Amino acid sequence: MRITVEVNGRTRESDVEPRMLLCDYLRHELGLTGTHVGCEHGVCGACTVLVDGEAVRSCLTLAVQMSGRSVRTVEDLAPEGEELTEIQLAFRKHHALQCGFCTPGILMSLTAEQNRPAPSREDALDSVRGHICRCTGYRGIKRVVEEVFAESDAENPR
Ligand code: FES
Ligand code: FES
Repeated sequence: MRITVEVNGRTRESDVEPRMLLCDYLRHELGLTGTHVGCEHGVCGACTVLVDGEAVRSCLTLAVQMSGRSVRTVEDLAPEGEELTEIQLAFRKHHALQCGFCTPGILMSLTAEQNRPAPSREDALDSVRGHICRCTGYRGIKRVVEEVFAESDAENPR
């Protein structure tokens, strides 16, 4: 099937198998290997990307569903030559990654939260609860959320 999808700000037209997963499309068709694939059934969060600004498990999404949509992957957070984002800088500062396998998905979930109007710390923590880190690096990730997101809805009313 022919699809037209915007990926990281660039329009892509591709012929894909109807059953092709979005993660496979990104990695194998477009070469965007920053999106990682772990469990392949929606549990670990490693494959999370943004679709029209919302965090989505790309292993549970078909590429054909993306026609006419906008997809953003970890490669677009800080394209070559550009500054790291606030969240990425906080990851570096707080040693919030070890092997880095889970990191792209967590970055995308937190980016989706940060892009909401008046994001709260609780919502940001909720957004990463569904991510599994096998290196048990959760303490650093929590410190990132504490640095980047305001403490409560009361502090940061919607
Ligand atoms: S690879 Fe998609 S959620 Fe684990
Ligand atoms: S840093 Fe290794 S899985 Fe999270």
